[in-house]
Amino acid sequence: MPTALITGASAGLGAEFARQLARRRADLILVARSAGDLEAVAAELRSEYGIAVEVLPADLSVDSDVQRVADRLRDTSDPVDLLVNNAGFGLPLQFADNDIDDEVRHLRVHVEASMRLMHAALQSMRGRGGRIVNVASVAGFISRSTYSACKSWLIGFSRWANAEYSRDRVTVTAVCPGFTHTSFHERMGLQPGHEGVPEFMWLDARAVVREGLRDAARGKSVSIPSLRYKAIVALTSLLPSGLTSRVARRGRV
Ligand SMILES: NC(=O)c1ccc[n+]([C@@H]2O[C@H](COP(=O)([O-])OP(=O)(O)OC[C@H]3O[C@@H](n4cnc5c(N)ncnc54)[C@H](OP(=O)(O)O)[C@@H]3O)[C@@H](O)[C@H]2O)c1
Repeated sequence: MPTALITGASAGLGAEFARQLARRRADLILVARSAGDLEAVAAELRSEYGIAVEVLPADLSVDSDVQRVADRLRDTSDPVDLLVNNAGFGLPLQFADNDIDDEVRHLRVHVEASMRLMHAALQSMRGRGGRIVNVASVAGFISRSTYSACKSWLIGFSRWANAEYSRDRVTVTAVCPGFTHTSFHERMGLQPGHEGVPEFMWLDARAVVREGLRDAARGKSVSIPSLRYKAIVALTSLLPSGLTSRVARRGRV
C-alpha cells in the first residue's frame, strides 16, 4: 500500500490529487494551514475508500512547520512513497507594489519549502524507490514577476533531479497546468474571466491531476496537461521572450 504526502491538500488541485490517489487505494498525509478543511477532506476519503489519512496542519512559509513535515518524510518506520509539492498562492499586484514580506512568504512556500521537502523525501526514497511531483505552471516557461520565476525554478530543478535520481529509483516530475478552475484566482481577489481569459483556456482540475499522475508514473520530468497548453508552450519557446512577456501581462496561472 503506497503512502502519499500532499501539500495544499485542503482545496483545489491538492484536494483532487488526494481524491485520485485515494481511489487508487494510497494512504494519505494531507498538509495545509486549515486543519478544519483538511479534516473534512480526510473524513470524506476515509469513509469512501477505507484508506488511512493523516492530517498534518502546517504553514509552509514558517520554518518550524516545514521542519515538521520534513521530519514526517524522513520517518523510515512509516515511509512515504510519493511527495506532491502543490501548496501555493498568487500575489495580487506587480512585484514593486506587493508587500515585500508577502513576496518572501511566496518564495518560501513555492521554492524553499518544496526544496526542503524534496531533500527530506530523497533521503528516505533513494534506493527504496519513490516519486516526487512538483506542481509548477505554464507560467514557468515565460517571464512574469516572481510567480513565474518560482515556477521556472521548480521546472529546471525537476528536470535535473529526474535525470540524477532516476538511477536511485526516484522520479521527479514538474506538472505545469495552465488556467485551472480552483480557488487560486478567487483567493487573489480575481474572478474567472476577470483578466479576459476566454473560457476555452480554463482546465478542469480532475483532468490536470489525471494527466500529471500519468506522466509522473511514466517517469517524465515535465508534464503539461492538455494539448492546447502543450501547443502554447511549444510556441513560446519559438517566440522572442520580450513578446511572450508582453502577452503574459494578461492573466495569472
Ligand atoms: N489554478 C490555476 O490556474 C493554477 C495554474 C497553474 C499552477 N497552479 C498551481 O497549483 C498549485 C495549487 O493551486 P490551486 O490552483 O489548487 O489553488 P487553491 O485552490 O487556492 O489551493 C491552494 C492550496 O495551497 C494551500 N496553501 C496556500 N498557502 C499555504 C501555506 N502557506 N502553507 C501551506 N499550504 C498553503 C492552501 O491551503 P490553506 O489555505 O489551507 O493553507 C490550498 O490547499 C499552486 O502551486 C499553484 O501555483 C495553479
